[in-house]
Amino acid sequence: MAEIKKHDTPMVDELKGGPWPSFVDDIYSYAEKHQKQACFDLMGQLELSYKHKETHWKHGGIVGVFGYGGGVIGRYSDQQEQFPAIWAFHTIRVNQPASKWYHTSALRKLCEIWDHRGSGMLNTHGSTGDLVLLGTVTEQLEPIFFDLTHQMNMDLGGSGSNLRTPSCCVGKARCEWSCLDTQALCYDLTMTYQDELHRPAFPYKFKFKISGCPNDCVAAIARADLSIIGTWIDDIRIDQEAVRAYVGGELKPNAGAHSDRDWGPFDIKKEVIDLCPTQCMHWDEKEKKLYINNKECNRCMHCINVMPEALRPGTDTGATILMGAKAPILEGAQLSTVIVPFMRLEPPYDNLKELIEKTWDFWMENGKNRERLGELIQRIGLNRFIVDILGLKPIPQHVREPRANPYVFWKEEEVEGGWDRDVAEFRKRHPA
Ligand code: HEM
Ligand code: HEM
Ligand code: SF4
Ligand code: SF4
Repeated sequence: MAEIKKHDTPMVDELKGGPWPSFVDDIYSYAEKHQKQACFDLMGQLELSYKHKETHWKHGGIVGVFGYGGGVIGRYSDQQEQFPAIWAFHTIRVNQPASKWYHTSALRKLCEIWDHRGSGMLNTHGSTGDLVLLGTVTEQLEPIFFDLTHQMNMDLGGSGSNLRTPSCCVGKARCEWSCLDTQALCYDLTMTYQDELHRPAFPYKFKFKISGCPNDCVAAIARADLSIIGTWIDDIRIDQEAVRAYVGGELKPNAGAHSDRDWGPFDIKKEVIDLCPTQCMHWDEKEKKLYINNKECNRCMHCINVMPEALRPGTDTGATILMGAKAPILEGAQLSTVIVPFMRLEPPYDNLKELIEKTWDFWMENGKNRERLGELIQRIGLNRFIVDILGLKPIPQHVREPRANPYVFWKEEEVEGGWDRDVAEFRKRHPA
């Protein structure tokens, strides 16, 4: 093995200080232990980038494994003579288990493979959810893929104009608010649409994210073209005894989330009743009883979040399906918009898959090159998308408020007499 070459990295080294876990410390201690030139070269190039205030990765990079059109993000140093161990520094996206539960045996095995064939550096996890293997060379890609699939039974995640790796909140595994088995659904969608994930067939990328309740712990509404957010349609379950325990100070509001500061004794009126966005709650001081007008409740989660031991979501559960979220490029950032206010979701989720496939059928044919679903909806109009493409009934829940401008399109068949008019007919009644 060649002699290890270390670089001077004074600016990078400053980041070893301070209380937060230092990525510099971690990388250097790993590099020393395993004598990894790629780690030393990466730190060297980073120092150079700090100095120049510029990246030193070349533009783009197209690499991968046979059979798939995505999953690996290729990249090359533009300082290869100085940092030869990172001449190539490709990133491999590995599909994470739903909600990222691991057994140490799996992580150990994965680390063994990666120590051997890669830089040893990881991102746990990428923003989309993948377990990210950071940095290897082209000739290691197929061997890593072989080991992942044959030794670990793990597959690559998505990249490119395809379905990206779906992700979900911890859901029923350890959250009492989950209205969905988020993991089962995430896994099912991932397996059902493996082809769409591995072989790009779309106009642009497409993401699924699943949260068990409107707290939306995977930020599905902001980060997924198709956002699935658990909710319920019956009544919030109230344990009046526990409500009284909150009022009496025996239970801590928000499960003690604010106990690092003195906010005074819990005041149910101030902290719950008056903060309910629809003003649908009532605390009867005499009766010592909480009332909720569930017809007016918009399931914002606030009261449940404040008094988790007293209030629970209903038992008739499902999800709201929203679509279109995206980052600013090109037409501006979007949050997903409500498409189906309530859908019951039980395996095999045929109702959801029908909606997904109708959406894809249309977007795949009509989406412009590199046009996200959210932009397509903007271009053709929400009404047309919901009614003509998905075949759903337009309902008030589809909008926050009705339009203010009067530029309303009518379909010809909705207008008596249609569009074919003869100006001569008009002139008979209205001479020029
Ligand atoms: C100086 C005089 C006038 C001014 C400043 C004026 C201004 C306007 C403006 C700003 C609009 C809105 C255009 C749009 O938003 O698309 C409009 C629409 C309209 N104007 Fe006038 N107008 C004038 C005279 C007239 C006259 C004399 C008539 C009829 C004989 C007329 C008939 C209309 C009609 C029917 C529309 C609606 C067209 C549509 O919505 O498609 N206007 N006018
Ligand atoms: C000779 C001068 C002008 C002509 C020929 C003219 C013509 C028109 C026409 C044909 C439209 C309808 C466009 C459409 O169908 O969407 C329109 C819309 C409009 N015009 Fe004018 N216009 C003139 C001057 C002005 C001025 C000076 C103003 C304001 C100071 C103005 C304000 C508007 C507005 C606000 C609209 C509606 C835009 C929209 O939201 O669609 N126009 N104009
Ligand atoms: S989104 Fe809701 S169900 Fe999921 S972990 Fe967060 S609070 Fe729990
Ligand atoms: S969930 Fe929100 S809207 Fe519904 S009763 Fe509680 S605070 Fe009010």
